[in-house]
Amino acid sequence: LFEREKQRFLASLTELEPTVPQPNRSQEPDRFTATGPGEFRNQSDSDPSLPGIREWANEVLSRVPGSTLGVALVEASQLETNDDVDTVIRSARMAQREWASKSGAERAEVLRRAAAQLALSRGDLVEVSASETGKTIAESDPEISEAIDFANYYALLAEELDTVEGARFVPAALTVATPPWNFPVAIAAGSALAPLAAGSAVILKPAPQAKRCAAVMVEALWEAGIPRDVLVFADVAEGPVGQHLLSHPEVDRVILTGAYDTAKLFRSWRNDLPLLAETSGKNSLIVTPSSDLDLAAADVVRSAFGHAGQKCSAASLAILVGSAGTSARFRNQLVDAVASLKVGYPEDPETEMGPIIEPAAGKLKDAFTTLGEGESWLVKPKQVDDTGRLWSPGVRTGVKPGSYFHMTEFFGPVLGIMHAESLEQAIEWQNASAYGLTGGIHTLNPEEVSQWLESVEAGNLYVNRGITGAIVRRQPFGGWKRSSVGPGAKAGGPNYLIHLGSWEREELHP
Ligand code: SER
Repeated sequence: LFEREKQRFLASLTELEPTVPQPNRSQEPDRFTATGPGEFRNQSDSDPSLPGIREWANEVLSRVPGSTLGVALVEASQLETNDDVDTVIRSARMAQREWASKSGAERAEVLRRAAAQLALSRGDLVEVSASETGKTIAESDPEISEAIDFANYYALLAEELDTVEGARFVPAALTVATPPWNFPVAIAAGSALAPLAAGSAVILKPAPQAKRCAAVMVEALWEAGIPRDVLVFADVAEGPVGQHLLSHPEVDRVILTGAYDTAKLFRSWRNDLPLLAETSGKNSLIVTPSSDLDLAAADVVRSAFGHAGQKCSAASLAILVGSAGTSARFRNQLVDAVASLKVGYPEDPETEMGPIIEPAAGKLKDAFTTLGEGESWLVKPKQVDDTGRLWSPGVRTGVKPGSYFHMTEFFGPVLGIMHAESLEQAIEWQNASAYGLTGGIHTLNPEEVSQWLESVEAGNLYVNRGITGAIVRRQPFGGWKRSSVGPGAKAGGPNYLIHLGSWEREELHP
């Protein structure tokens, strides 16, 4: 099966359009795509019957202040005691039996309805995301598309589960999904839909900072026909009750996207916890003198400052090799592009870079305010208002190998520049991190590409492209080294569902 999945995956790489066609809706544009922070390109521009993208965006954003979407469900879904948790686990395990007894094709049909329902909820999801997390529409709109892609793609994989001769797929049973706040729709959807596709029941525990987003997403999935006791939305308090859930012996799988330390904490609560986790990163993009420097500058800016640097995939470092590091044109382009990013709140349609999730503190405050030895600001970050959440982007240069900035994950809009003498040295610095989530190189020299591919240590590798925004199916997403805990299966990739269950020989099921 793995071999067949691999062949199918390789074949799919030649397909230009990975997105399964989505239902069209006259009131809303079918889809638009961010072409850079704050820029939209409506893929349906040529269809005059569709309202203008700006009008749609303005209408959605006008609802952001005062939005109460998701509040009611969050309030109704609080699990406050260990007994509450036990009750939900018992009920989900019961409900799971019928869900698991469906064929993969039957579950796929429900997932496709979920995809359609998510498309219908696009405006609501953008609104709640902006309202609750501060995510801009240019960042959240493609995220809704990603959630839709997950639904359609896992539907396809669910159908495949039916086609293995002589064996039957047995789901892992009860899965707890703990998505992060930074992709409050796409990762919440993906980490629930994959086990659902595989026949498991799911308890979705939303990120504390993004509960309403997860609630609105879950409502769309229920509306599509996923039973409420098969997909349980549970706002479980942090602390002992959360620990009770995550260490519960009747939980068969936990899907986590979050910090490496969170994975370690979960494991400390239950050391045999079956965990499938994508964790932390310290990602960099190498730029060599053989690259298209104009393109490289744009991709560095996009990768470092998209969603205010709060993507696990974001570029925290640009490692410039030789004359790429002394090119005045490259430097000026980078500085101008960063300094001109319009910082603000998402309800202003002109905003290109939104707020960070919480007032800057700890490591991130350090990154904004403190320079290491030999470092200087190319663009100095500034606190824009007194919320502590709105900062202009920063670029520091002269980051030294082994320094605090080189080795630490910050998760915010500060980019560090390193100057390497050779590609070997740049790769060594890129690999110096304990993490290995994304990595990129800009070069038009195929030999440099080969050299890099042979030695880079990261789960997702990008050549002549930014290092964020993996596309479901085309770029299965997952980490290496401390960016992954568990079997290492990649979300949105052909082997993901197989890790959410096991195979039994057919004769065991007469
Ligand atoms: N999948 C996201 C990206 O590729 C990160 O979680 O940017």
